[in-house]
Amino acid sequence: MIRVFETPQAAYAAAAWQWMRAALDTSPGLIGVATGTTTTPVHAVVVKLFGEASFDTEPIAICAVDDYIGIPAGHIASCGERVRAQLVRPLGLRAENAVLPDRFDGDAAGYEAEIARRGGIKMQMLGLGGDGHIGFNYPGTPLGTAAHRVPLPQTTRDTLARLYALPAEDMPSEGLTLGIRSIMMSGRIVVIATGSGKAEAVRAALRGPVTEKMPASVLQLHRDVLWLLDGAAAALL
Ligand code: GLP
Repeated sequence: MIRVFETPQAAYAAAAWQWMRAALDTSPGLIGVATGTTTTPVHAVVVKLFGEASFDTEPIAICAVDDYIGIPAGHIASCGERVRAQLVRPLGLRAENAVLPDRFDGDAAGYEAEIARRGGIKMQMLGLGGDGHIGFNYPGTPLGTAAHRVPLPQTTRDTLARLYALPAEDMPSEGLTLGIRSIMMSGRIVVIATGSGKAEAVRAALRGPVTEKMPASVLQLHRDVLWLLDGAAAALL
């Protein structure tokens, strides 16, 4: 299903309510989160809702689609730190309920196994790369991949340099990501994309062929995917 909202803020609020839906579902399994400029405001709405009228966060357990590896604890770009700052601490989640890649010391298979042990992912929220990547599954990633380590391409290094003004010695060179197969095993998938920079990827993912060249196109094969877009991201549909 595709929903298009007039403003990015409306799309973020809709995504937050999807997060709430998963948070209120006490069946086993994890909520899969993604970090990035698109999901940050989504998490802020979730925390605002919690602040307005607290809900029971005791049963909530989360995992994350990706993180950088080989970076020191507290590194400015750390996805795990962002997840802890944006969700774990504000919602008071128990530390053991934050199943995050940086606890696995680069062991992608161990990360995937722990997710399975915790009942799998009941809802995975995804951002979308401008080239159609999901997690760190870049164009060309085989569609059947499990969680794996991946060298960071120049595009991601450029984004990091822009966002954090990282000197070369602090630039992560590798990531750990859920694979496309891991993502496809989630019960539900919610993709949030805003802005004109995502429009071509949104068009290709939703209207183009399913191909490794456009990783998000594989989501056409999942039975329960919700795309939440603003007008700019949906402009080419
Ligand atoms: C990044 C991350 C993803 C993220 C996506 C979109 O490269 N690996 O986890 O969801 O790209 O990021 P943004 O929302 O900042 O555009």
